[in-house]
Formats: sequence, C-alpha cells, structure tokens
Amino acid sequence: MNIRVLTGITTSGTPHLGNYAGAIRPAVQASAQPGVDAFFFMADYHALIKCDDPARVARSRLEIAATWLAVGLDHERVTFYRQSDIPEIPELTWLLNCVTAKGLMNRAHAYKASVDQNTEKGLEPDDGVTMGLFSYPVLMAADIVMFNANKVPVGRDQIQHLEMARDIAQRFNHLYGRDYFTLPEVVIEEDVATLPGLDGRKMSKSYNNTIPLFEGGASALRAAVMRIVTDSRAPGAPKDAENSHLYTIYRAFATHEQAAALRKQLEEGMGWGEAKQALYDHLENLLAPMREKYFDLIANPGRIEDILQAGAAKARKLATPFMQELRQAVGLRNLQAAQAPSAQPKKEKGKGARFVSFRDDDGSFRFRLLGADGEELLLSQRFADPKEAGALMRRLQSEPAETVLQADGQGYSAMIDGVAVATAPAGAQDGSGASLVRARAALSSLSQE
Ligand code: TRP
Repeated sequence: MNIRVLTGITTSGTPHLGNYAGAIRPAVQASAQPGVDAFFFMADYHALIKCDDPARVARSRLEIAATWLAVGLDHERVTFYRQSDIPEIPELTWLLNCVTAKGLMNRAHAYKASVDQNTEKGLEPDDGVTMGLFSYPVLMAADIVMFNANKVPVGRDQIQHLEMARDIAQRFNHLYGRDYFTLPEVVIEEDVATLPGLDGRKMSKSYNNTIPLFEGGASALRAAVMRIVTDSRAPGAPKDAENSHLYTIYRAFATHEQAAALRKQLEEGMGWGEAKQALYDHLENLLAPMREKYFDLIANPGRIEDILQAGAAKARKLATPFMQELRQAVGLRNLQAAQAPSAQPKKEKGKGARFVSFRDDDGSFRFRLLGADGEELLLSQRFADPKEAGALMRRLQSEPAETVLQADGQGYSAMIDGVAVATAPAGAQDGSGASLVRARAALSSLSQE
C-alpha cells in the first residue's frame, strides 16, 4: 500500500517566497514520487481562528488554491481539497473532542503563549482566547486521522500538534477497542532551508519582511528584492557571501553551479546593487511562467472551484464511509442495527439496496446487504477489524454479482478469493433460488452506482 502523506495550509494570508521554498515546492515535489498518495488541503476552518475578516479569508483561499495549481501540483494525482468541503472533518472533531483531555490542550504552545502574554500585561489569563484557538489541535488531529495519514510534513512549530494528534488518536483507539486510526508521523524537512526575509530574520508575514511570490507581479518582486538589507561594503570590496541573506535566498533557487558562480562574483567585489539585479533576474525567470498561470487561474475562479469540488468528492469517498464506521464505533448507530443480529431489520421503502454495517454484541464488525424493500439478503461473517469488513463490502460491489454470489446447499454465499465472507440469512434459505436472484440484483444495482 502507498504511503499517505498529508498536509494542510492555513488560508489566512497571501503566499510569499518563503512559503514557496519552505512548504509548497517540497510538497509538490514529494507528491510526484512513486509510492506516495498525497493529500493537500486548505485549512480554512483553521483560518477562522486567526482571522475574522471574511474578505481576507475568501481571498486567501483563492490565492492559495491558484498558487498550488500554478506551481504544478498535479490535482489529478493528488487529493487536493478544502477542509470546509468535508463535513466529516468537523463531525470527527467532535468525536475527538470527547476523548481529548482538557489538560492536554492546556499545554499547547500556541495557547500557552497567549496566556503568558495576557499575564504579562496583567490581563485575565484567557483574555481574547476563543474555543477555536484552544481546541485548534483537535481540529488538526481530525484533519490528519480522517485520512489515516502516515506522514505529515510540517514546520517545526507544528511538532507538538502532531504529538497531540497521536495522543488523541491513541486514546480513541484505546477507548473503542480497535486501531481505527493510524498514528501519524511528523516529517520535518531538514534540508529545506527556512528562507530569510528582507531583514535576515525568518521570512514571515508577521515580521513584514516578505518577498511576494506572485501578487503584485514583476514590479513588486523587483521592489522587494531591492529592499533586501545588505552590509555597507562598496562595489569592488570583497563580500562575505555566506553571511549575506541575499546570497542565501539566491542559493535556495539556484543550482550548485549557479550559486557557486554568484558567490565567487560577490567575493571578487560584485556590488550589492548588481547582485540584487542578478537575484531579481533569476527569480523573475523562474517565477514568470508560473505567475502567468496564477493570474490566469485567478481570473477563472470557476476552474479552481471545479478542481476543488472534484478533490472534495475524492476525499469524501474515503471520509464518508470511514465516518460511518466511527459513528458505529461510538454507538451512534441505526437503531435496528443495535438490536440482536438475528432480528429482522424493519422493512423500509424506497431507499434502494444498500449495505449496512453494525457491531455485533461480541464486539465484532459485520454488515448486511439489504434489498430496496429492506429485505435482508446477506449477513457477513464476524470481523475483528472494521477496515477488513469495510474493504470486503467494497470488494463485493466491485465484482460482478453473478460470480460473487453463488448458490450452495439451501442458500447462497458471497465468495471473495474462495472464502465465503457473507451468507444468505436463515430466512432466505428456501432453496428456490428466488432470494439469490434478488440478492444478485441488489448487489449489481450497487455496483452500477
Ligand atoms: N496548523 C498548520 C499550520 O499552521 C496547518 C494545518 C491544519 C495542518 N491542519 C493540518 C498541517 C493538518 C498538517 C496537517 O501550518
């Protein structure tokens, strides 16, 4: 099975060059590797925690989506979606909230920082702290475990959130007695340098030292590059390339040879003005074709919307059945399925044939195939692992009903790889074959959906 790599981007700002070098570029590269199923999403519910300006949130979602697509994210291959298009995520957040210790959240760095600042200012410890901020890590855990991600590439500031996600997932698994959730591993990209900003500190919106990626076009890019702080050595004087952030920025976007060449020129006395021009030319060369795509997408938001809707549908193919399973796990079950397994499900009209999964009294996972009129047509074996039951349910729908459902003795069975994974319930074993015909019809109606 492929490794699932998942990461989210909070949609509260405009992507800058530092985001590109530190997060976007490595993620897009990683997603193109074989053996990887990548999930990238826009954490727009998280954005609401930081930002109560609707126009800003809306604009940022557009800009970030356009950026990822413009830099070459293969949205056919990657699952690319918006958090707020997946209603299962807030639903799962609630289930996780109910198993998360408040004390664990009290220890979150972001929350503690707010409390410390308040205390310093002599304010109430929780002044200005919303429940959104406080429970931020629970929503993030839901983002991750909803898709059973194996690896989560993030910045260092997110390591604690990943540890909390593991804690919460483990707690849920323990309480409900199965490994519903994969425990995610944090991935810190060691060789991705954090890009310095204009003043040499980490490039960040909060330091107001960023170089724009696309917004503002070539002129804004040039203006920012010209504002990079350098030392005062005059043209002709040898420069200390290694310790200049202009060179560090250049190197992040250049080949070894290109970087070595600029370094040599600086050491031989190239003026800072000339070096800035070289950096600008280099960046412009790299960014211009992507920028063109970016503005083309921004001008056609409907195209982005379509891509994101398709991404949400793809993500929900996983999230919807999994959430169903999790609801079962915590006891939010169909009342009929909560009855003894031998009880006949009440007939329901007009819903079409369907599978229903349930948890048996002994804790095992099972499912039934019901006909459109609610007639029970198959009852599965008992499975210890809900994922196995889920996978078999999907297999049954993906194979031709005539081969899967085979008559045996008085009844019939559903055969997968030579094993009877489900059999006709007692009531359908009349030996006439009529139930088998109905069961096949029900199963094939599902596979045609
Ligand atoms: N908190 C992350 C950040 O600020 C964004 C994020 C939200 C995220 N949900 C996630 C990252 C899930 C990885 C996985 O960078």
